[in-house]
Amino acid sequence: MNDALAPLLTARQIEARIAQIAREVDKHYDGEEFVLLPVLKGAVVFAADLMRQLRNPFLLEFARSRSYGSSSDAEHAPEVMVPAAEVVADRHVLVVDDILDTGNTFLALKEKLLEMEALSVRGCFLLDKPTRRVGTLKPDFFGFEVPDVFVVGYGLDHAEHHRNLPFIGRLPEGMA
Ligand code: IMP
Ligand code: MG
Repeated sequence: MNDALAPLLTARQIEARIAQIAREVDKHYDGEEFVLLPVLKGAVVFAADLMRQLRNPFLLEFARSRSYGSSSDAEHAPEVMVPAAEVVADRHVLVVDDILDTGNTFLALKEKLLEMEALSVRGCFLLDKPTRRVGTLKPDFFGFEVPDVFVVGYGLDHAEHHRNLPFIGRLPEGMA
């Protein structure tokens, strides 16, 4: 089944880029502690690799996002769950997700986190897919820009499959 997937980014490319992102994040926070907030489930693989490259101190918490309908349907606002207010209040938060697509997930999380009095909310994404973006949102940190194709692997799923692929693959046309 995985043989049908055309590779877009190799495991080596991803590993090298994550080391660079980690340096950018370290430089940005410059020793100031922040909350690293991976968005379940897609961000777990990226976040696990990213956090082991970080030198800046951080607290690890998790958010959760669920879209209604199929995973490639961006019509509906995602349902997001965030940590308790006392974890977030008066702290800088770095949301970590697999991909910034429409931006709806990040914007919903950011709104909630700012309501909870986070000091700042920034976003770090392995992939940036700008073609479907709602508005002018840009990622604070990202690994690779991808075209408007459905990608899987390295945490990203299609109907809960392929999250374990060590590379990013492109789902053949007609399968998404
Ligand atoms: P956004 O809210 O539209 O920015 O979408 C974010 C979420 O949509 C991601 O965290 C993914 O779960 C999912 N998503 C968007 N594009 C893709 C893709 O190409 N492959 C797999 N999941 C995707
Ligand atoms: Mg998903």
